[in-house]
Amino acid sequence: MKIAVLGTGMVGNAIGSRLIELGHEVRMGSRTEANEKAIAWVTKNGKNGSTNTFANAAAFAEEIVFNCTKGVFALDVLKMAGQQNLKGKILIDVSNPLDFSNGMPPTLTISNTDSLAEQIQNLLPDTFVVKALNTMNCNLMLNPSLVTGDHNVFMSGNNDASKEKVNTLLQSVGWKDNNIIDLGDISTARGTEMLLPIWIRLWGALGTDQFNFFIQRGES
Ligand SMILES: NC(=O)c1ccc[n+]([C@@H]2O[C@H](COP(=O)([O-])OP(=O)(O)OC[C@H]3O[C@@H](n4cnc5c(N)ncnc54)[C@H](OP(=O)(O)O)[C@@H]3O)[C@@H](O)[C@H]2O)c1
Repeated sequence: MKIAVLGTGMVGNAIGSRLIELGHEVRMGSRTEANEKAIAWVTKNGKNGSTNTFANAAAFAEEIVFNCTKGVFALDVLKMAGQQNLKGKILIDVSNPLDFSNGMPPTLTISNTDSLAEQIQNLLPDTFVVKALNTMNCNLMLNPSLVTGDHNVFMSGNNDASKEKVNTLLQSVGWKDNNIIDLGDISTARGTEMLLPIWIRLWGALGTDQFNFFIQRGES
């Protein structure tokens, strides 16, 4: 499948490389056509990897686009990517609305009664936004077996058919169906975005970012 990855940071790198490993064609989007980090990523990943602007990458995608951009600029990036290029496509939003301007730990720029995912969905009414994977380190996102045992990935989105497709993609990389939790519509992303403050404290306390949340269910 032709998939776009918007973002040249460590998340875009990890997701893009893993998708290529799985046989997909991936175009990495950036503000510029020839971003140095994106070119290095293409060089590492061979003929199924390419790079261009956010708009060109979004247009390249057949059905799935990953938003792996800095949360505070995600809306700007998606405007650059272009509503038309994203129309009818699934946007898997892994970004978090974190502000690092006052150092660590970062604060949330959007919370409680709103979320970045909802703002993205409002910006792109003809795109199916599915918030997922934002609650774990990027190496685990499409490689869940890096953490042994059961652990969870959450999904939020207004369109059930799109969430089904994301579920299929997630299962194709090793997520067990039972560990994929559909929280409901896009407003439920408020919950997963607000997990970041505890995720960051766990990172400090555990001394590693290779961990994940697991919801242990009781008898009902
Ligand atoms: N690190 C993790 O393991 C992890 C886990 C879960 C979620 N996340 C989330 O994933 C996202 C990506 O994180 P990351 O560390 O890979 O990358 P990042 O440094 O947060 O973001 C990189 C991308 O943001 C774009 N960007 C930066 N400043 C911009 C501006 N002023 N205007 C427009 N675009 C701008 C860059 O564009 P150019 O390509 O043009 O430079 C680049 O593509 C973040 O939202 C983060 O919170 C990260």
